[in-house]
Amino acid sequence: MDFLELCKKRFSERHFSDVPVEEEKLLKILEAGRIAPTGCNYQPQRIYVIRSEEAMKKAVSTGASLCGCPLALLVCYDLSEVWKNPADRGFSEYNCGEQDTSIVASSMMFEAEQLGVHSLWIRGFDSVELSEAFDLPENHKPVMMLALGYPSEKSHPAHLHFKRKELSETVKYI
Ligand SMILES: Cc1cc2nc3c(=O)[nH]c(=O)nc-3n(C[C@H](O)[C@H](O)[C@H](O)COP(=O)(O)O)c2cc1C
Repeated sequence: MDFLELCKKRFSERHFSDVPVEEEKLLKILEAGRIAPTGCNYQPQRIYVIRSEEAMKKAVSTGASLCGCPLALLVCYDLSEVWKNPADRGFSEYNCGEQDTSIVASSMMFEAEQLGVHSLWIRGFDSVELSEAFDLPENHKPVMMLALGYPSEKSHPAHLHFKRKELSETVKYI
């Protein structure tokens, strides 16, 4: 499928079925994240695969609304291995972790869509609670979770999916 068509087809899935995602599809999704570009190629992404009942319960207890998905990826970056830019006079503490993990997660999200696996990008969690719940190393900074699975019969795009600004509102030719 044409990539733009794939982008248009994707929507945030909030009604997952309990059908498990096949192992080979999970591996392809993870592979798409593995080969994503990162700042200076430092590859600071650290991905936790959540699919046991116990891990799901822990994740939900931190506020993450996983919508009944059978599989979720917690995407973190390693603060000790991320590219930093002390030369940035506007933001000397800057590191590329959020950018790196976002492109990793986006690559996984679109690979999932290509494979017929729906997804939901989730940032609505408390990162302190999450780190504690999974006993994450202190240098692993959680950025987002990607809920993955197949749609249930209730599946439909939410109203916000159809609200996008016109290019003229977000793009300026200078
Ligand atoms: C950075 C980010 C954080 C998000 N966090 C959540 C979340 O915690 N819970 C949720 O249900 N959706 C979350 N979403 C999904 C957005 O609400 C959704 O992408 C947006 O409303 C557009 O809808 P669509 O994805 O169906 O096109 C998040 C999306 C992004 C990119």
